[in-house]
Amino acid sequence: MTYASYTITLIPGDGIGPEVIAAARRVLDATGLSLSWDVQRAGACVVEEAGTPLPDKVLASVRTNGIALKGPITTTLGSGFRSVNVAIRRALDLYANVRPARTLRGLPRARPDVDLVVVRENTEGLYVGIEHEVVPGEATEAIRIITRKASERVTRYAFEYARQNGRRQVTAVHKANILKITDGLFLQTAREVASDYPDIAFQDRIVDNMCMQLVLQPEMYDVLVLPNLFGDIISDLTAGLVGGLGLAPGANIGTGCAVFEPVHGSAPDIAGQDLANPVAAILTGALMLGHLGERDAAARVEAAVAEVLAAGEVVTPDLKPGRPRARVVGTAEMADAIIAKLS
Ligand code: NAI
Repeated sequence: MTYASYTITLIPGDGIGPEVIAAARRVLDATGLSLSWDVQRAGACVVEEAGTPLPDKVLASVRTNGIALKGPITTTLGSGFRSVNVAIRRALDLYANVRPARTLRGLPRARPDVDLVVVRENTEGLYVGIEHEVVPGEATEAIRIITRKASERVTRYAFEYARQNGRRQVTAVHKANILKITDGLFLQTAREVASDYPDIAFQDRIVDNMCMQLVLQPEMYDVLVLPNLFGDIISDLTAGLVGGLGLAPGANIGTGCAVFEPVHGSAPDIAGQDLANPVAAILTGALMLGHLGERDAAARVEAAVAEVLAAGEVVTPDLKPGRPRARVVGTAEMADAIIAKLS
């Protein structure tokens, strides 16, 4: 019997990134898969040494390996990049940002029965970053680009994802009542794509109504597909529904490669203090294993995380509220507890 081996670009990132990514790496190594890690530094941490937060060799490594596990990168002012994260997504054409939000047992602050996947358009919208002063100090303008091509491939990805993962419904989220031309094109394109998938129910929601619906009855929704900014905002909302940013995994999918990263940022308020919850990064690692076709290993990691959270004996500080008997542990000890439960 032969076993597959994988070379994965590992980008620790800034702030809590190195702590949570180290924890995720240990858990993934403990699955017994043959994983070798090509460590590449990007972000504020590398600017002084490399003269740029995004050295060419980082992108070259991801292109070669086709897959990366990435920690959060701080958005610095004056680095020559509006955002390194946006630059990576655009340079590698990672057009779909996939952010699952599923309720796990044992989290008092989580809403019950949430099982959603946010699919966010990742290459255009307001994130093209074209803005300027029209009248200095008085009036400003930002350009929001929506194309048929990007809308079509992200909505098609959402339907394909739904089909391949046994999901039944896709909801397109938009503001086409006001943004009649831009979001009108996004919605019209989504409707056309939906007609190719008669086995998947399709509906649409205006984004403000969607926010209320997600707070009141999140269990009614399945896969959501959204333009870039709405997806960014709604995916933090859905992370909150299931217990917070410390639990929310994510993936950036392109045609040639994929970069897996938790939803959360570099959390400078808790960085370097062994306070960060590594579960988001660990579940991100499980998503990556699933993408590699290692579904059994991915399921084992998810089960170990679920078992530790349900038992509630140890928690990172963000999970402490509502759990008086749980012992508060740091990032590394939380990863140890998860490794101990790996079957
Ligand atoms: P953030 O996600 O870093 O933090 C928001 C809040 O959530 C903070 O109170 C933080 O302590 C908490 N938090 C986040 N992750 C946590 C974890 N794993 N465990 C426990 N608590 C956690 O968002 P913020 O403060 O808006 O951004 C900080 C920096 O990160 C900025 O420079 C931002 O641009 C960058 N960022 C990077 C992202 C990426 O690399 N993909 C995504 C989001 C933000």
